[in-house]
Amino acid sequence: MATMHDNQLLDNGQGVIDPDTYFLRNNPPSNLAEFEAKTSEFVQYHKERNTPVVLITSGGTIVPLENQTVRFIDNFSAGTRGSVSAEKFLENGYAVIFMHRQFSLQPYSRHYTHSTNCFLDYMTLTEDGKIEVDAKYAAAMATTLAKYQKARSNNMLLLQDFVTLSDYLFKLKSGTRIMATLGRSAMYYLAAAVSDFFIPTEKMAEHKIQSRDGALTLTLDQVPKFLKPLVSVWASNGLIVSFKLETDEKLLVPKARQALEKYGHQIVVGNMLTTRKKTVTFITQDSERIVSLSQEELDNDVEIESKIISELLKYHRAWISHGTLEGQ
Ligand code: PMT
Repeated sequence: MATMHDNQLLDNGQGVIDPDTYFLRNNPPSNLAEFEAKTSEFVQYHKERNTPVVLITSGGTIVPLENQTVRFIDNFSAGTRGSVSAEKFLENGYAVIFMHRQFSLQPYSRHYTHSTNCFLDYMTLTEDGKIEVDAKYAAAMATTLAKYQKARSNNMLLLQDFVTLSDYLFKLKSGTRIMATLGRSAMYYLAAAVSDFFIPTEKMAEHKIQSRDGALTLTLDQVPKFLKPLVSVWASNGLIVSFKLETDEKLLVPKARQALEKYGHQIVVGNMLTTRKKTVTFITQDSERIVSLSQEELDNDVEIESKIISELLKYHRAWISHGTLEGQ
């Protein structure tokens, strides 16, 4: 742990600490060793087989208000982008590490878990008391089940979860460093919605905050920008795709460009809160391209992630063969 004197030296004068200081001042999650062991085994398995691997982050992080957490601040994300993308990567021969917020949407089960139906509605009881899948859902469920079982039995899908911001950041650092052994055949697809503000452990209430003291005023510190060490140190050879979510259209491309300039990675996929399921913008150092679904595609339930992934596969092929995005 850093001392008080260290703390004063390590922040930038405006209370923003650097990523290394964050890891010194916060405790790693209790299951980090297990996370690392499973990730290493998975990565080694695919390295031996020359399979491209993508690390997908998906869902939102929480920021606890109390050490013994009753209340927390959540980030918006159901995990749709990440879980649909995982399916598309798997269909294209990628091995997928799916690092997701616990209980958010997961590939394949997403078709059933968070739908308006209760899972029991997919089943029926026969006259002799056996449970069967209702005939009207059976064909689609069989197709989904076959894809899921193929992914699991071929060891193509590793499910890992996180809950808090700290949990996420420790696992992101470990996961990307382990993936780095794959060099350029690693892709990082950072679709998770990560908190920008948090309460450091030493400033957090230990017990449930009591309402008897009246209104609650919170001061949150800024989370250090982890994309910086991720791009320059942890995952420097892989193809890094970050996402940018905005609600003001005017900010989308400028903020995405700013991120590319600041961190030096390869691609930002920009999306607007209200249109994210039908249009995204690909921004690279020297290009900008809108990718959308047509009305016909929307009517036929085409998911925009199939277009996102097919674009990224072209970029990744170019990246693997000559370390730039040119010629994709
Ligand atoms: O799951 P859905 O409901 O389908 O929603 C998908 C989505 C809208 C959440 C997704 O498409 C998306 O846009 N995800 C990124 C949203 C976001 O948090 O953007 P940001 O501006 O806070 O962060 C931009 C990038 O910087 C992220 O890739 C993040 O990994 C990175 N970051 C953020 C905070 C931080 N402290 N360090 C970082 O490195």
